[in-house]
Amino acid sequence: VINLSEEHSLVSNYLAELRDVEIQEDRARFRRNLEKIGEISAYEISKKLSWIEKEVTTPLGTSTCKVLEKQPVLATILRAGLAMHTGLLNYFDKADNAFISAYRKHNPDGTFEISLDYISCPEMEGRVVIISDPMLATGSSLVKTIQYIRGEGNPAEIHIVCALACTVGIEYILRAEPKAIIWCGDIDDELTAKGYIVPGLGDAGDLSYG
Ligand code: PRP
Repeated sequence: VINLSEEHSLVSNYLAELRDVEIQEDRARFRRNLEKIGEISAYEISKKLSWIEKEVTTPLGTSTCKVLEKQPVLATILRAGLAMHTGLLNYFDKADNAFISAYRKHNPDGTFEISLDYISCPEMEGRVVIISDPMLATGSSLVKTIQYIRGEGNPAEIHIVCALACTVGIEYILRAEPKAIIWCGDIDDELTAKGYIVPGLGDAGDLSYG
């Protein structure tokens, strides 16, 4: 787990604005801040990826440049993940993309299951997959998403990017996916019985899209 606020990343600056009730009412700014967190996370993750050398012809000669060895797959969970996904795609601008809608389907007895609905997913075998979702609460949506992704081939690496995570959710994901690398803006300890992170920031999907 990489907690970017402990690394003095600019991510924590934008997360502070996402949490702030007086700022988060500005929906356009809320989405743009999520997008910026996606962009900065892309930059942080890029340092851990594989790079190769490529000869590039310039107007005055040739230059040996470093370029990404393989394009990642950017996967996101609808709908709250869209703004962060845009930020990741701004930087990994040749990436393939996967879109997955996961929602809580409530049973009459009060329990719920995560239901996957709309899915568009490329071949995943051997790929570097970067999954974005602003909130990692119980972790159920992400675990279910990764189970689906594995059905499309085994990725070489799985990175999870979230603006805010909570301790129980991180533990749940790492039990199911011990090799996944979780990049988060910060970690809160409390999760309510209804699955809300405290102090958290509220409902990222509603704050982004109403
Ligand atoms: C939120 C959030 C995650 C999920 C996290 O989505 O964006 O996808 O809940 O919860 P979990 O870790 O307990 O699975 P929400 O259900 O609010 O849907 P939305 O994105 O459409 O608003």
